[in-house]
Amino acid sequence: MPVVVLERLEHAVPVAKALVAGGLPAIELTLRTDVALDAIRAIADEVPEILVGAGTIVRPEQAAQAVAAGARFLVSPGATPALLAAMADTGLPFLPGTATVSEVLTVLEAGFTEMKFFPAEAAGGAAYLRSISAPVPDARFCPTGGITPATAPDYLALPNVGCVGGSWLTPPDALAAGDYERIADLARAAAAFRA
Ligand code: 3PG
Repeated sequence: MPVVVLERLEHAVPVAKALVAGGLPAIELTLRTDVALDAIRAIADEVPEILVGAGTIVRPEQAAQAVAAGARFLVSPGATPALLAAMADTGLPFLPGTATVSEVLTVLEAGFTEMKFFPAEAAGGAAYLRSISAPVPDARFCPTGGITPATAPDYLALPNVGCVGGSWLTPPDALAAGDYERIADLARAAAAFRA
């Protein structure tokens, strides 16, 4: 899952097209910049072949804003009761963020089995997820945070990991240079991890 931070709106559509060209089916557009909601809108309108979601949902009201912009899934780094309620209210698929066993159990108690594990590398990495797969087998994770092409396969080999995410697919220097071919190449390499 490409976790994308866009500073410039004009990068949105070419980046989404490059990720599609590389064989990736989804893009998480983080709500960390002023152009993020407009970028989601542009991708939803102009690149319908990619599933565009909104990431970095840290305030409940951002869930509805993301839906209005055309997001088709939501991702949060955390899982407060208000965030869980706001994301669930949208009716969209969403990944609440967890980093501890108690947070994982809180999300499971709320009725949700799919979640983000963040910040993955800093919070214990693949070894941590492997350790909790036996006591908490129902939770399924999308780890993100510090993951690289070198470490992604370790996560993807785990039974409780459905996908991994990261910003390595859209490096700031490639975005600044408009080097969409490099982004497509990075996407191609990532799409091959599961092959
Ligand atoms: C996220 O929001 O998931 C992270 O910022 C992605 O982490 P990374 O930049 O270390 O890949």
